[in-house]
Amino acid sequence: TTVTVHAPATIANVGCGFDVLGLCLTEPYDTVRLTRTDRPGLHIRHLDDYDLPTDPNRNVAGAALLALLRAVPEPLGFEVEITKGIRPGSGIGSSAASAAGAVVAANALLGNRFSPKELIDLAMYGEAVASGVRHADNIAPAICGGFTLVRAVAPVLDVVALPAPPLWVALVHPQFEVRTKDARAVLPVSVPLGLAVRQWANVGGLVAGFLTHDYELISRALDDYIVEPARAALLPGLTDAKRRALEAGALGGGISGSGPSIFMLNKDEATARAAAEALGSVYEKMGIAYHLHVGPI
Ligand code: HSE
Repeated sequence: TTVTVHAPATIANVGCGFDVLGLCLTEPYDTVRLTRTDRPGLHIRHLDDYDLPTDPNRNVAGAALLALLRAVPEPLGFEVEITKGIRPGSGIGSSAASAAGAVVAANALLGNRFSPKELIDLAMYGEAVASGVRHADNIAPAICGGFTLVRAVAPVLDVVALPAPPLWVALVHPQFEVRTKDARAVLPVSVPLGLAVRQWANVGGLVAGFLTHDYELISRALDDYIVEPARAALLPGLTDAKRRALEAGALGGGISGSGPSIFMLNKDEATARAAAEALGSVYEKMGIAYHLHVGPI
């Protein structure tokens, strides 16, 4: 009657794929422990120091589980224990992980009656609590693993799992806060056609690069011409950090989700370690505290 799930961090957008591409890391992860109860409703506890709301309607895992409970006929409830391994506000899908972990654990307790696609749909209720937007670009890779493309959220959720060659992520999380809401407020409402053409050429190229294991194409196609330039002002050090990581041999990268973390994709572990060091050196020089992460996808 108890299930424990490790819910991994994810990187949304993956360069040019704003709101549609995502990738799953192996670490860090949230630990979500669910116990089924006959008493209807949710009781949520956080076993960490982040002071997150435990009211089910305001908690990302709670909102996702309430949606799941509405979808099952029998009266039941869950005791929920969450240990955040992913720092909230770091830009690597912290809220998505808790929401995804909660519905995956509940599904296991209910005999796996929901499909992965239905679980993504339910977990998006958690994202709505976190950022006001029911987006799936972190939820989909958290649940499916690997790279995912969210081709559509409505009227019907359409998620495509993308095979990819071996890749290593280098990531820096500088210790300043960028709220997703603020990072979305700076985005342009409309985009010149020429820019849109360059962007979807990159998205197509990047997906093709993944499918054909073409590292050169992945490297050429990662750049985001629309969203990242608009957000750059919120992220001191971004341009410098990217440049240095490229010099260290990274294929390319950009803002992880809405920031402040910056990710770079790399062919192998050694390059990823060099790229991470390069990313860190920029924040070191700026006197901004940071965390580094290196890991395979
Ligand atoms: N795609 C979203 C954004 C992810 O970039 O705003 C937020 O986590």
